[in-house]
Amino acid sequence: MSVIIRRARPDEAGLVLSLVRELAEYEKLLHEVEATEAGIGEALFGSHPRLFCEIAEWKGEPAGFAVWFINFSTFSGRSGIYLEDLFVRPPHRGKGIGKGVDRVPDRRSGAHRAGAGNALMEVVLIVAVADNGVIGSGGTIPWRLKADQQRLKAMTMGKPVVMGRKTFMSLRRPLPGRTNIVVTRDASFRSPGAVVMEVTEVHARPEGDTHLAAVDPAGWEEVARVGNSAGPDDSADYSYVTYRRRKSR
Ligand SMILES: NC(=O)c1ccc[n+]([C@@H]2O[C@H](COP(=O)([O-])OP(=O)(O)OC[C@H]3O[C@@H](n4cnc5c(N)ncnc54)[C@H](OP(=O)(O)O)[C@@H]3O)[C@@H](O)[C@H]2O)c1
Repeated sequence: MSVIIRRARPDEAGLVLSLVRELAEYEKLLHEVEATEAGIGEALFGSHPRLFCEIAEWKGEPAGFAVWFINFSTFSGRSGIYLEDLFVRPPHRGKGIGKGVDRVPDRRSGAHRAGAGNALMEVVLIVAVADNGVIGSGGTIPWRLKADQQRLKAMTMGKPVVMGRKTFMSLRRPLPGRTNIVVTRDASFRSPGAVVMEVTEVHARPEGDTHLAAVDPAGWEEVARVGNSAGPDDSADYSYVTYRRRKSR
């Protein structure tokens, strides 16, 4: 293994800024970067450092970085880590560098991870496949593997799980402890397990050929509404509306 993860050095504010800019470019947000080398240098290496940076080196070359700071939860009474940036340069992806550098802030600070800023999110495909390529039959899985089900549960607990509408329908109930995200072409699809619905109301009347069925006020209670005015990059005003399923009597 040729990766070394080390704390950024005081003469490396320029390197950190260039990694920030590479990350922003990757996310097509370069136009939003206002940081300067002096500002980053002061935050990382000034008399009261508020920001910390780990550099991942691959064979002596900077391959990626993590920038983090300590925050505090007044509810838990504990300090935590906020991971602002995690980035691995494209030629160095797939070497496990991201995972390695991601773990360092927790080890260095002894604090708990409390949030992730621009961390690249990992999308994981999970599937069980038979020797002949079969993964399902008649809407169900044609085998029973208890340990594999427990492993799936452990791997997904606390995380969002995305599945097709048919797979979701084959479950006895939504997978507990996880946000169940169901993909369907049916705009009127409603899950009996869904208890909260987040709707962005776009205050415009465009031509269209696919419609969302009106939210039934007998089944759903509006619990929050945030109105937003159109900004320079928006074509309409819009509102974020949260509905909660009414308890059936
Ligand atoms: N072995 C395993 O690891 C495993 C894992 C999961 C499932 N399975 C099995 O696989 C079988 C189901 O497979 P499947 O592929 O037929 O069902 P699926 O992927 O669970 O569901 C298919 C449905 O998902 C929706 N969908 C898929 N792609 C979409 C897209 N890009 N945009 C919008 N909607 C989209 C469509 O719903 P609408 O028809 O509503 O538009 C489509 O009919 C079952 O037998 C299940 O038990 C096995």
